Amino acid sequence: QMTQPFYGEHQSGILNPPPASAALIAFDVLAWDKNELTRLFKILTERCEFLTQGGEPPTTEEKFPPLDSGIVGTYVHPDNLTITLALGDSLFDERFGLAEAKPRHLQPMTRFPNDALDADWCHGDLLLQICANSQETVLHAMRDIIKHTPSLLSVRWRRDGFISNHVAATAGRETPINLLGFKDGTVNPNTRDQAEANRVILVSDQHDEPAWAQGGSYMAVRLIRFFVEQWDRTPLQEQEAVFGRDRESGAPLGMKNEHDIPDYSQDPEGKQVPLDSHMRLANPRTPGFEKHQLLRRAYNYSDAISASGQLDMGLLFICYQADLDAGFITVQKRLNGEPLEEYIKPFGGGYFFALPGVSKPGEYFAQALL
Ligand code: HEM
Repeated sequence: QMTQPFYGEHQSGILNPPPASAALIAFDVLAWDKNELTRLFKILTERCEFLTQGGEPPTTEEKFPPLDSGIVGTYVHPDNLTITLALGDSLFDERFGLAEAKPRHLQPMTRFPNDALDADWCHGDLLLQICANSQETVLHAMRDIIKHTPSLLSVRWRRDGFISNHVAATAGRETPINLLGFKDGTVNPNTRDQAEANRVILVSDQHDEPAWAQGGSYMAVRLIRFFVEQWDRTPLQEQEAVFGRDRESGAPLGMKNEHDIPDYSQDPEGKQVPLDSHMRLANPRTPGFEKHQLLRRAYNYSDAISASGQLDMGLLFICYQADLDAGFITVQKRLNGEPLEEYIKPFGGGYFFALPGVSKPGEYFAQALL
């Protein structure tokens, strides 16, 4: 059993190592004015505090619906739960008069060349990233929040995700393997280094943003389907060239260990790590590129089968950065046209702004914004 803090300058669910289970759930906000929106944030604060810190839910008489779904038993254990609340660009439209206060880089996600975006799987006024050690805890939290916000939120889309349990159990020391069979998350900013986090992950006084946004983070979400049948018939050397890494060790091609760092200036023609490989495009390691870093915190997803009878699985790509344009958007533009595109199809997601944390009891989410 682990408890992630609820109160703090930034929300939990960003810097802590990802636990085994997750869900992304996006909502349209039904609140019609700022008062109702404030009421929503107060309810969300109260529910998230209770659910993440744990406790005994209240009971009621049998003639009333139970106050808790009961799916985790009579005592709610924290179970490493985090509920990370993020706002979409559409929340800053005319409804609530918040346009002036919008984080500077927040914008609607637009289509990249390889995308086949399905409107039913895109955007949202509000997004929750729910993570915990077990799927029951994630679903319990999701149902609790929906039950408490009937006239305030309407579900827009939802996807559940997972990473291998034994990896989650090492608290970030081992790298999760994605459903293409490659270690995914090797090169990431150091989340234990607060200075680095304040530079590349969290909005801080180093960034030109509204004061209320400090401690928040831009969140890029991409729902990406994998063509696994095709991938599974692709030669290993081709798979490895796609990423630029050895599948088994995770090392850059031509090197030995997962965390070895290639010196591309010694390999200008890409004889070892191909110039168009995913890792080399995503981070060419040229001087000045350090400002284009992002924190990847992805989960696998697996659903039933597609309309054409193919396995429907892939990645809930989630990344956090202090500057959406310098982070995700720049890196994705560099990835456009990469060989990996033959095996993947992004179909949904959106850009969101993860709110700063609730700093102490008595305060609520987005208080400084409202
Ligand atoms: C690295 C997989 C999408 C950004 C990697 C690596 C793998 C991988 C296996 C190498 C190991 C590692 O450093 O984690 C995938 C798959 C994707 C995907 C399967 C989706 C189909 C994306 C997207 C972005 C991205 C959409 C951002 C726009 C990066 C970055 C690195 C990386 C920045 C680290 C590069 C480095 O510094 O060496 N990815 N990725 N990836 N990926 Fe992705």
